[in-house]
Amino acid sequence: MKSVREMDVTEKKVLVRVDFNVPLDEQRNITDDTRIQAVLPTLKYLLEHNGALILMSHMGRPKGAPAAKYSLAPVAARLGQLLEKEVVMAPDCIGPEVKQMADSLSPGQVLLLENLRFHPEEEKNGDEFARELGKLCDIYINDAFAVSHRKHASVDAVTKYAPQCGAGFLLADELKYFNQAMENPRRPLAAVVGGAKVSSKLGALKNMMARVDKFIIGGAMANTFLKHQGLELGKSLVEADLVAEAGEIMKQANEKGVRFYLPVDAVVADRPEPDATVKIVPVQEIPKDWMVLDIGPATSLLFSQVLHDAKTIVWNGPMGLFEMDAYSRGTMAMVNSVVNAHALTIVGGGDTVVAVEASGLSDRISYISTGGGAFLHLMEGKVLPGVAALERSAEAA
Ligand code: 3PG
Repeated sequence: MKSVREMDVTEKKVLVRVDFNVPLDEQRNITDDTRIQAVLPTLKYLLEHNGALILMSHMGRPKGAPAAKYSLAPVAARLGQLLEKEVVMAPDCIGPEVKQMADSLSPGQVLLLENLRFHPEEEKNGDEFARELGKLCDIYINDAFAVSHRKHASVDAVTKYAPQCGAGFLLADELKYFNQAMENPRRPLAAVVGGAKVSSKLGALKNMMARVDKFIIGGAMANTFLKHQGLELGKSLVEADLVAEAGEIMKQANEKGVRFYLPVDAVVADRPEPDATVKIVPVQEIPKDWMVLDIGPATSLLFSQVLHDAKTIVWNGPMGLFEMDAYSRGTMAMVNSVVNAHALTIVGGGDTVVAVEASGLSDRISYISTGGGAFLHLMEGKVLPGVAALERSAEAA
């Protein structure tokens, strides 16, 4: 992959794919601008080197048609404040008017194209649409790690039509940290995997089996493993069709000498509500009509001891239903365990990052990924389509 640093961007039209898919409240105020902040190094570098910036992103899932509630206009305003310069909002991302706006852009100016997903061709990786995007620029830069697992036109096909292509600093950093943790880690390497479903983490567990020294499993997905051990889980979420597979994963871990840790106690409730009746029980004693909603304190202590000597930790997925205060202790205890380990610590996944940010300890994590699906894709050992496209274009050059 070519880095933006290796390219002559002076007085060039630089089309940058960013991921400005940021959370908004009802009034369309941005509630978390992390993803905007994350690409500022690339944008500032391009502006300092006299590039003219054309930025493109998706926002939400508007299903291929324009919709005001998915407009990127709030992002233009916020980005303008952060860059301390005007960010002009285009009415669309392709078409004669946009082409004219891009053509008349001067070095140092910034144009933000409207939501790419207002056109169905974006998600279909459409060639004609990609050609239109490519025509806007001299140089295409992908700095959208969080959407680089999608084979979409602005991530993949556009690289066939832009005259030159390269990677921005965020994309490069995300890959650098992840690879540092997985390819040649300081050991022990521990993977903490949580979240609701084993099904969504199966690929990641299988791929990481060959690399990690320890697995820590939390969240509702642990229930399926506990079920395989013959425990009764009451009304808890269990993926019955994956119980055998969960057993297979534990067997493999055993054969490979990978330590595999499951919860030993749980916070259970009679329903998944903030005001439910709650108690803490050993996992062997989950009452029939109750459900597991968090790991218990003995488990938090165990997990923290397991992480104590880790030199590298990769964490994806919360330990419980942390959005509700009553079930957030396990996830918050995990944040503490991770930041207190003397380790390179990498955290990814939307929910996990929200929990880490809420703890106020995020500055003690070595690297917080901006990716959800993209981070999981890396955990599964897959090459991101956006990265593959940049590599192809570097080879062809
Ligand atoms: C994300 O939020 O993970 C990215 O912006 C990708 O969004 P998507 O899952 O709608 O493709």
